[in-house]
Amino acid sequence: MRIVLVGPPGAGKGTQAHVLAKTLSIPHISTGDLFRANISQGTPLGLEAKAYMDAGRLVPDEVTIGMAKDRMLQPDASHGFLLDGFPRNIGQAKALDEILAEAGIALDGVLDLEVPEDEVVKRIAGRRLCRNDGSHVYHVVYNPSKVEDVCDECGGELYQRSDDTEEAVRVRLEVYHTETEPIIEYYNQQGLLVTISALGKVDEVTERAVAALEQKK
Ligand code: AP5
Ligand code: ZN
Repeated sequence: MRIVLVGPPGAGKGTQAHVLAKTLSIPHISTGDLFRANISQGTPLGLEAKAYMDAGRLVPDEVTIGMAKDRMLQPDASHGFLLDGFPRNIGQAKALDEILAEAGIALDGVLDLEVPEDEVVKRIAGRRLCRNDGSHVYHVVYNPSKVEDVCDECGGELYQRSDDTEEAVRVRLEVYHTETEPIIEYYNQQGLLVTISALGKVDEVTERAVAALEQKK
């Protein structure tokens, strides 16, 4: 399957994508994780992205689209993928349509995770990420690791993201409303959209997501 996951910052896209990708045997492609990997490796792309990310703004399309395209065209994504954090504006959604058309493939569905703003703020405030693998995501209250600051899956060190500050989160939410929300209607018009509530336990949200995606198979 080829799926796009959309939802506000802190909705649980990364958390759900990690489980869904395993269940569906497709790679989880997160542009946020790709940027963070570039930052930790000190690449020129990472250096360019960091200032935008720390401020909560979108990295320019010229950089983002090329990076996402390269990742989508890797052999492990030839039978499907789960896109998390891409596309994030109408320009990127149109670029994705072109990439897919060139490759002779199409999306199966777009899963929209709905969460009220006060809840995403709480989720982001307690989030911890694994240094070895950005898809290993924890929350100090809702989803704590067994040992404090140590990843259950790989033993890696857990850290707080540099863009999880109050100021950057405020900007990220604003950017979500103005730039990303329009893609929800874009995909609705194409008959691809399924919306679920992302409130409740992680497992409950996964069950809802799997049931919603079944309709798109
Ligand atoms: P990105 O990394 O994509 O961040 P985001 O969209 O802001 O989303 P988050 O990662 O904050 O949240 P999430 O929905 O994945 O939630 P999570 O599962 O972690 O992007 C970061 C930056 O990179 C952007 O601001 C931009 O600068 C740049 N960027 C990335 N893509 C780009 C693009 N396409 N174009 C331009 N720029 C781009 O969960 C959050 C917390 O909640 C965790 O602690 C988790 O444990 C907890 N949680 C999850 N589910 C539940 C639940 N059901 N109940 C309770 N807690 C839960
Ligand atoms: Zn880990």
